[in-house]
Amino acid sequence: MLPPYRIKVVEPIPFLSAEDRRQALEEAGYNPFNLRADQITIDLLSDSGTGATSAAQEAAAALGDESYAGARSWFRFRNEVHDLTGYPHILPVHQGRAGERVLFTSLLKPGQICISNTHFDTTGANVKLAGAKPLDLPDPRAADLDSQEPFKGNIDLDALERTLGGPEGHRVGLVLMTITNNGLGAQPVSMANLEAVRELCRRHRVPFFLDAARFAENAWLVGQREPAYRGWTPRQIATRAFELADGCVVSLKKDGLSAIGGFIGLRDDDLHAGCEANLIATEGFSTYGGLAGHDLERLAQGLREVVDPAYLRARAASTARLARMINEAGVETVQPAGIHALYLNAGSLLPHLAPHEFPGHSLGCQLYLDGGIRCAELGSLYLGGMDAKHRLLTPAPFELVRLAIPRRVYTDTHFEYVAAVLAEIAKEPERVSGYRIVSAPPLLRHFKVRLAPTTTAVRNPADEPGA
Ligand code: F0G
Repeated sequence: MLPPYRIKVVEPIPFLSAEDRRQALEEAGYNPFNLRADQITIDLLSDSGTGATSAAQEAAAALGDESYAGARSWFRFRNEVHDLTGYPHILPVHQGRAGERVLFTSLLKPGQICISNTHFDTTGANVKLAGAKPLDLPDPRAADLDSQEPFKGNIDLDALERTLGGPEGHRVGLVLMTITNNGLGAQPVSMANLEAVRELCRRHRVPFFLDAARFAENAWLVGQREPAYRGWTPRQIATRAFELADGCVVSLKKDGLSAIGGFIGLRDDDLHAGCEANLIATEGFSTYGGLAGHDLERLAQGLREVVDPAYLRARAASTARLARMINEAGVETVQPAGIHALYLNAGSLLPHLAPHEFPGHSLGCQLYLDGGIRCAELGSLYLGGMDAKHRLLTPAPFELVRLAIPRRVYTDTHFEYVAAVLAEIAKEPERVSGYRIVSAPPLLRHFKVRLAPTTTAVRNPADEPGA
């Protein structure tokens, strides 16, 4: 599928020797988050803030108005976001999690519950920092990684209804739907599911918000998979989704096609006043919210480009092609392929590793050791329950690795390389070493954890006896 752009500005990518990669990973405490970007050949750690901008975005950026208050760039950004979402109140923030903090500290009270199809990691952390409790109620069909169900990102409506109507119902302060469901295999949420959530929230008088970091990609998949929305443009579908909710919090580092940015969209005047005061105290005045005028310009333009059907079709096709190549190499991925990321099933590829040896993390490390590819674990290292000595008590339901796909950055040739590296690992999976935790922080463990290999396979040959 032909992307509707050609490449105008390029950046070199580093190629390290196998020994340099081994040493780099050792020095990083076997945690790819600690690697330097110039040690990485293909960086699939995140699709956040990692996309390429367009010539039109850079031209707009040159017009950025850096006035402290009421800048032209702010009005351009606000009008674009308002046209897309319909929300009367728009507050800019420097990135998604800043929006989460501002919104949750204004909306949630200590002891309340925030329900989601799946909270993203920082989202759950910000719910907790506001004194509330995050509760995930994913559709049980998502538990079958191989099924071709079109909307495995949905919330479990029965469980939501039971919780809202049950003894804890009065404690629910917010229902937050993540579109697409990043924590659950990049799976989309159907419009029917959002409509049903809206009805339940209305009936129980609970605010209903979207975490809409990938609103355009969700809209594309709805247009492809939900018969009632066939013939709608991605933009029309996205606008309809925003219309269903009482507000939203959005990281624009994804579908804003920019390196930084975000916003909160609100209907409620009082909530807006509370959030605005918090924003001014902590992010910046409410016409820039921690962003420069040139950022606001890039974002306003990016929001137009991201809903282009030709762009979304090519991006979805490129991810689906990578999924096919990986599957043909004998590595399972969460089905059906989403858009912003592929999730490799390391548990099924590496049956010789127990959950406490972190098969997902092990596969991620091997991708770096063998090919300089960086990605993120979504398994027991990230989601498992552990005691104070970092012993795994409750494994994650699946041992996955996420290959996130930056927007407009890598070509199909880069993805052929990724598939080839994986194919080599799949030929001899038993040579992949497990890992154990050496040290870890109490919150958001996966970012700063340090580990060590459990077998000699990746140790320094110089340290081996007889060397
Ligand atoms: N919500 C979702 C669904 C996300 O995926 C992210 C970030 C955020 C909120 C927070 O936004 O990074 O702008 O503060 N996801 C990135 C990722 C980091 O790699 O998936 P942020």
